[in-house]
Amino acid sequence: MSTLILYTSTYGLTERMAKKLGEQIEDKVECLNLMQNRNVDLTQYDKLIIGASIYMGQIQKEMKQFCEANEAEMIKHPIFIFLCCGIEANVGTYLEHAFPKAIIEHSRVRVSFGGELDLNKMKFLHRTITKMMIKNSEKTGQLLPNPKYEAIEGLAKIINTDII
Ligand SMILES: Cc1cc2nc3c(=O)[nH]c(=O)nc-3n(C[C@H](O)[C@H](O)[C@H](O)COP(=O)(O)O)c2cc1C
Repeated sequence: MSTLILYTSTYGLTERMAKKLGEQIEDKVECLNLMQNRNVDLTQYDKLIIGASIYMGQIQKEMKQFCEANEAEMIKHPIFIFLCCGIEANVGTYLEHAFPKAIIEHSRVRVSFGGELDLNKMKFLHRTITKMMIKNSEKTGQLLPNPKYEAIEGLAKIINTDII
């Protein structure tokens, strides 16, 4: 059995979470960053995990385009989806906008791994937006996002016990 983790990540949280998840999966696992390489033969893998992060309500275009182009092959495999994002309550809407309907409906699990805001890594525009978000959350008392490491363990357990 082999599992492929396809991911896109702008500032690295989704990449970190993808690799941590990969360490907990009992099959042979490969991780592929679609922002660096989209050349992959999906027929070589049994299970597919897809992970992306949310910016202004959208996932990275590389993931969106890959799923649209490869939908027919992807849905021949069990699919597990995770998102990294700041607003948990919006995960359902983000998923709907991010992935083709057939992939969402076919996926066995859709889960949020939380988010991270690291001002030091961000380009100017993102830093400015994030500072505004932080100020706003101080006013409203809304909590800032944190990575949900426990959710990785939960997803790994499901994938490890999932029978094709
Ligand atoms: C400029 C900016 C816009 C963001 N927009 C959203 C958003 O619309 N919804 C949301 O839930 N999280 C949003 N986030 C939070 C990111 O999804 C979160 O920081 C995530 O951990 C990023 O993962 P990455 O490092 O893998 O790219 C935003 C973050 C930044 C910096």
